[in-house]
Amino acid sequence: MKITMVLGSPREDSISTKMAERFAEGAAENGHEVVTYKINEMEVLGCQACGCCRKYDTDCVLEDDMEGYFEDLRDSEVLVVTSPNYYSQIVGPMITFMNRHYCLMDKDKNPRLEDTKKVYGFFAQGAPEGFERYMPNYEWYMSMFTTKNMELGKMLICGGNSDVDAFLEEAYQAGKAL
Ligand SMILES: Cc1cc2nc3c(=O)[nH]c(=O)nc-3n(C[C@H](O)[C@H](O)[C@H](O)COP(=O)(O)O)c2cc1C
Repeated sequence: MKITMVLGSPREDSISTKMAERFAEGAAENGHEVVTYKINEMEVLGCQACGCCRKYDTDCVLEDDMEGYFEDLRDSEVLVVTSPNYYSQIVGPMITFMNRHYCLMDKDKNPRLEDTKKVYGFFAQGAPEGFERYMPNYEWYMSMFTTKNMELGKMLICGGNSDVDAFLEEAYQAGKAL
């Protein structure tokens, strides 16, 4: 199967990226193909509210570095999204990226993806593991995908006091289980 990953951290030593990489390693061991987008290295426009997707029943028509993404997503059975927590929230560029999924709902608010995909979210924060105040923010973010014919595979939130290796192992096992 094919897996599309969209990485949100700008950091070389990013924990959320490492979780995705371990997930990909586990998946690759079973012969799965992985396509990776690094949001910090891309030009991703905000939704222009042009309405083309709803009017013409099409994926997003904007011409930027997300060209090719929706095709990859459609070919994939799994989407992985990652983000650092910045100011209590998902990092800005990953919210801009998520906004572009407006095109995956038709004008009657039905999902346009025919095949159900699995979506995984890997997040890292400075606050301790299980910090309750942030949970609704991660859940909201994932819900923007699960309302578009994607099922939640797993959400991992590595805290500032977490055993990072244990999180990396959990991500690896999740990838290997595909
Ligand atoms: C601009 C900025 C804002 C941050 N705000 C928060 C925050 O509000 N809460 C928090 O728990 N951690 C915060 N952090 C810490 C990061 O979430 C933490 O370093 C995390 O590991 C980053 O993810 P990464 O390792 O995948 O890059 C912030 C870091 C930066 C650079």
